[in-house]
Amino acid sequence: MASVHSLASTVHQRVADALSAALPEAGSADPLLRRSDRADFQANGILALAKQLKGNPRELATTVVEALPANELIKEIEVSGPGFLNITITDEAIVKTLAARAADDRLGVPYAENPGTTVIDYAQPNVAKEMHVGHLRSAVIGAAMVEILEFTGEKVVRRHHIGDWGTQFGMLIQYLIEHPHELDHKDGAAVSGEEAMSNLNRLYKASRALFDSDEEFKDRARRRVVDLQAGDEQTLTMWQRFVDESKIYFYSVFNKLDMDIQDEDVVGESGYNDMLAETCRLLEESGVAVRSEGALCVFFDDVKGPDGNPVPLIVQKSDGGYGYAATDLSAIRDRVQNLGASTLLYVVDARQSLHFKMVFETARRAGWLNGDTKAVQLAFGTVLGKDGKPFKTREGETVRLVDLLDEAIERATGVVREKAEKVGLTEQEITENGAYVGIGAVKYADLSTSASRDYKFDLDQMVSLNGDTSVYLQYAYARIRSIIRKAGDAKPAAHPELELAAAERALGLHLDQFGETLNEVAASYEPHKLAAYLYQLSSHFTTFYDQCPVIKADTAEQVENRLFLCDLTARTLHRGMALLGIRTPERL
Ligand code: ARG
Repeated sequence: MASVHSLASTVHQRVADALSAALPEAGSADPLLRRSDRADFQANGILALAKQLKGNPRELATTVVEALPANELIKEIEVSGPGFLNITITDEAIVKTLAARAADDRLGVPYAENPGTTVIDYAQPNVAKEMHVGHLRSAVIGAAMVEILEFTGEKVVRRHHIGDWGTQFGMLIQYLIEHPHELDHKDGAAVSGEEAMSNLNRLYKASRALFDSDEEFKDRARRRVVDLQAGDEQTLTMWQRFVDESKIYFYSVFNKLDMDIQDEDVVGESGYNDMLAETCRLLEESGVAVRSEGALCVFFDDVKGPDGNPVPLIVQKSDGGYGYAATDLSAIRDRVQNLGASTLLYVVDARQSLHFKMVFETARRAGWLNGDTKAVQLAFGTVLGKDGKPFKTREGETVRLVDLLDEAIERATGVVREKAEKVGLTEQEITENGAYVGIGAVKYADLSTSASRDYKFDLDQMVSLNGDTSVYLQYAYARIRSIIRKAGDAKPAAHPELELAAAERALGLHLDQFGETLNEVAASYEPHKLAAYLYQLSSHFTTFYDQCPVIKADTAEQVENRLFLCDLTARTLHRGMALLGIRTPERL
């Protein structure tokens, strides 16, 4: 496996070298190289540099140009405007660089220079509750970040911080103890996810009704919470049944999402129970937290309520109970001290940003987070309905995630079926592709807008064949594969000696940017930039395919070279989509 320098970075280096040779006092000045429409690249850095050194930018630019005669890489370089450099590279350099990428399984993408360990907190639904679109976002964005980070060589530890602890379990467990057979399954038959959820729903409703109407039950339920926190065995056994039943449901949804969630990575809130008392003790002893009206609190200068009074982070309530914050603080200690995290990444709804801001700051004050460890919330926005309002059913209820996924698959299957005859798909392929297209559509819609923004959940748009959708990309991929199949004996092969058409150069230069895009996405936690890259790749391919005949090209070499471009485009699309968690069927 060999990593390949991108053309942009090679040109950058050459210009930077020429710049410091022409102007030693400039040191290692940045030529500020950009892709450009006029030439292949434009360097704008000379302007600022000339200003700084009080020189004439055009003169300086001319000196740099003289130091860069045409060679195997640079075909032409010229001064333009007030002192920009326009740089055109040779066709040969493009094809040779792409050939080096094609020879590598990783498409020449280098590993990160200093990989660390990222603990990523994502896909964290709540026990005994339905999953909704918010859980979709965390799961989809988190899974993409896992793949992207791992691809750059980062060690990634997954943590699914499920909501499996808290006062509501007192009520549920007490009810189950009084109605012991409510979660029993018929003769050991495997339970489906749907069945598991409907059992939980039924039990939840029944226990809630009793809790609201029967004071004595309410008391028993409250005492049960204390038993749970104290680790009473019978209570824990019952609690475990809720967790297990919920997991059956979660896994069925993740499975539908074509997502691999491992049991050992599910460490819910309960997993930190043993650390809570110590976390509070350490905070109190160090003075980071103080007692206020019986509760253990951390205060912040810049966090105030609407009345102007400070709003504290409560780590222990006045009744002695521990909440969400105590758990998250304990999780930080575990992740930094036991898992060796250099980065903590939380893929969580933006509405929890204040919570994380306070939790991170508290951990910093306590010394659990220091300069070596960074903590980041990859905060995502709300999923809206077509009307632009938070997504609800007509009855005002939260929309069930499974229902949405089923509908997406159904619509997508319809889209696939329409073309199936022409492509010659079997019934099995239609079903399989329908799921890949439907789930891909949902994931892509989520991943193609910046995570911080709200987005509209619009299935019509998501499965549309035109525009920035996964189906469009999947069709582009399948079309390329079909071209290569139809080429028969002609095989992809790079021919650096050939002259390239404009559309070939544009496609080639974009293909060469894959690694740089990935590095940027990995560093900024912005998977939508990968989606945008892939969409542009398909667009470049479409233009190329419109303008440059492949199988019917003039010469055998040209056929091979164009097949080579097709093949590298397909492999880049396939890899990029896989990093986003989206399948690319061979025939569609
Ligand atoms: N279970 C929570 C919810 O559904 C999300 C958990 C986020 N992770 C964390 N470490 N707090 O809102």
